[in-house]
Amino acid sequence: MAGCYILGIESSCDETAAAVVRSGEEVLSNVVFSQIAVHQPYGGVVPELASREHLKAIVPVVRKALADAGRSYQSIDALAVTQGPGLAGALLVGISYAKALAFALDKPLIAVNHLEGHIHAVLLEERHIDNREIKFPVLALVVSGGHTHLYLAEQRAAGWAYKNIGHTRDDAAGEAFDKVAKLLGLGYPGGPIIDRLSMQGDPSAVRFPAAQLKHRDRRLDQHRNQKGKGDAEFEPRFDFSYSGIKTSVLRYVEIHGLQASIEARRKALAVIEKPKLEDYLLHCDTKTLNLVASFQRAMVEDLAAKTLAAARACDVATLFVTGGVAANHELRQHFEQAAAREGLPVYFPSRPLSTDNAAMIAAAAYPKFLAEDFAAEDFSAEAAMKL
Ligand code: KG4
Ligand code: ZN
Repeated sequence: MAGCYILGIESSCDETAAAVVRSGEEVLSNVVFSQIAVHQPYGGVVPELASREHLKAIVPVVRKALADAGRSYQSIDALAVTQGPGLAGALLVGISYAKALAFALDKPLIAVNHLEGHIHAVLLEERHIDNREIKFPVLALVVSGGHTHLYLAEQRAAGWAYKNIGHTRDDAAGEAFDKVAKLLGLGYPGGPIIDRLSMQGDPSAVRFPAAQLKHRDRRLDQHRNQKGKGDAEFEPRFDFSYSGIKTSVLRYVEIHGLQASIEARRKALAVIEKPKLEDYLLHCDTKTLNLVASFQRAMVEDLAAKTLAAARACDVATLFVTGGVAANHELRQHFEQAAAREGLPVYFPSRPLSTDNAAMIAAAAYPKFLAEDFAAEDFSAEAAMKL
């Protein structure tokens, strides 16, 4: 089988991942070793523990990715690794290992931005099914634990170009899911469990006023105060804000006296190694299920409304929704319906490629491989890397 084989390595947060992807379009292996169990007792990712776990997992995870793909180390054409954004210590484990391996094998190494990886998760799967229908410009919503970013993406001769036109001003959407789950005693990570529990509650039971998801765009005010500048000169921004809704959930808990039942739930779930949906349901009353469903509904509606407003303003032809939160069932359904009403095609990665993985890193590296855009020998982790 001809083509270019790239070994991708990802270690930016709490997943140690490696994958082999052929020519940016065929996933030959995709190994993801999750550290959830290690971080669960702390209700969130502990950076020190994450680095230590990556160190333990990286060699077997890479070995398994090659074995699953039926490739030897020598038969790989290049290596790709996440440079950032992410936890510095966690990133360094992947980078140091990738550098050493590339040096030992005498293969080129490509540094990849994690956010670009999430966008390429969509492109990878569409290329695989030979979809030539994707029209540009594309608006990509990258919605994860660390980011809620909007990018205009286009293919240029020397690779891909991205323009950031919006981001969250405070908490990322995934962070809001995680914080609300923690505050309700549901454990970590919150997104997947809120996703499943929401199906059991009434999403219209609790109203979160739109003002709690809104913010004043200070740059627009400044612009208006600057005399002599026309509106055309103002760069439109489509920002998000999700710390207010978390406070609203907390207020609801206090007003309705839910603290005692939350503590009881936290204790009961802590002793179950891998709680199942039945375990959560056993410890959630209707009021809590309704609150969870209403929270998710408010998040999904806000994400879709703001993304579609940006799509209209920028007159894009296609929408991508990617990142961990894009795995959410209600979010996918809501985006599909809302985009269809506007005649806008919307693409998501399959669920395994929505959350962190290394196949997306290997796929994003492919255009860079063709352009011989290789990492300098002294490159290092960039925790706050921008795209
Ligand atoms: O992309 P990702 O795996 O890691 C980051 O780059 O942050 O995203 C992880 C985030 C977490 O906040 C997690 O709670 C959220 O994605 N998430 C979900 C779902 N699955 C993961 N949020 C809502 N619904 C889901 N099904
Ligand atoms: Zn991610």
